[in-house]
Amino acid sequence: MAIEGLTKRFGKLTAVDNLSLHVEPGDIMGFIGPNGAGKTTTIRIAATLLKPDSGRVCIEDIDVVKDPEAVRPLIGFMPDFFGLYEDVLVWEYLDFFASAYHIPPHKRRRLIDDVLELTDLTTKRDSLVSELSRGMQQRLCLAKTLVHDPKLLLLDEPASGLDPRARIEIKELLKELRRMGKTILISSHILPELADLCNKITIIEQGRLVVSGDVETIMNQCRGGKVLSIGIIDRHEEALAFLEKLGTLCDVKCTDGLITAKYVGDPDEDYMVLTALTTNGFKVRSFTEQPLDLEDVFMKVTRGAVA
Ligand SMILES: Nc1ncnc2c1ncn2[C@@H]1O[C@H](COP(=O)(O)OP(=O)(O)OP(=O)(O)O)[C@@H](O)[C@H]1O
Ligand SMILES: [Mg+2]
Repeated sequence: MAIEGLTKRFGKLTAVDNLSLHVEPGDIMGFIGPNGAGKTTTIRIAATLLKPDSGRVCIEDIDVVKDPEAVRPLIGFMPDFFGLYEDVLVWEYLDFFASAYHIPPHKRRRLIDDVLELTDLTTKRDSLVSELSRGMQQRLCLAKTLVHDPKLLLLDEPASGLDPRARIEIKELLKELRRMGKTILISSHILPELADLCNKITIIEQGRLVVSGDVETIMNQCRGGKVLSIGIIDRHEEALAFLEKLGTLCDVKCTDGLITAKYVGDPDEDYMVLTALTTNGFKVRSFTEQPLDLEDVFMKVTRGAVA
């Protein structure tokens, strides 16, 4: 999917502002931004439900505005809000969408069983949609986006409003879809949850792109150097003073016996810190690079615009 210079205005408000973004086949792209950033608007345009003011979205080289009919079979859109369905059974709900995608009746039964199994809803086949728990409704909504076997999934906050267990279940399901080779754009503000699911992330704010790329690169960019985490058995004060004098570390701190410091020296020579400590008789029990989570990245890259 290629988004090029996409702009959408609502009256005076520019919800999406000249946004460009590429999602390659097989990518799991985390689409992140604070409330009102323009995530839903962007996704709805890509899903052929809203027209942009300028710019374009192409899916498999088809322009979504010029040929929405051709795009729809290729995409599975999961809205952030699950509609109300009175008196509809789970299988009927899926059957309805399958027929909307022109899947012939004799193929539907098997297909519905398959997506129910994938989303772990087999036992709810004959339940009323309105009587499912929120987590089950979200899974059903995801099941619905899969009936026509789309290549690209556009998921707008699939895990919102779910308890921790249900969120983990959705995440497992998304990992399964990743294994099946689907391309996924997934919006969320629950950032740490996207870290091990996505290979790429895009952060937008006020409709504008803040940063986009693979998770590792963005994390390293934002970090501006590695943060080392050093466990030392005793002589903490002494070690602190020693490390500060080395010259390759800054922000040296000690909390609960664990020293953290930002390494600003040659990236390949951080082991020298360890060597220096041990040759000076400090009892080092651990020496690791601290992982930076997406929450940190998000706070760093969006701080400017939020403030
Ligand atoms: N139909 C509409 N009419 C007027 N303004 C709209 C409409 N839809 C969205 N907006 C505005 O566009 C901006 C972007 O909204 P959007 O829903 O795309 O954000 P979002 O990133 O999905 O936010 P959230 O995280 O809260 O879901 C917001 O300021 C919103 O108020
Ligand atoms: Mg939204």
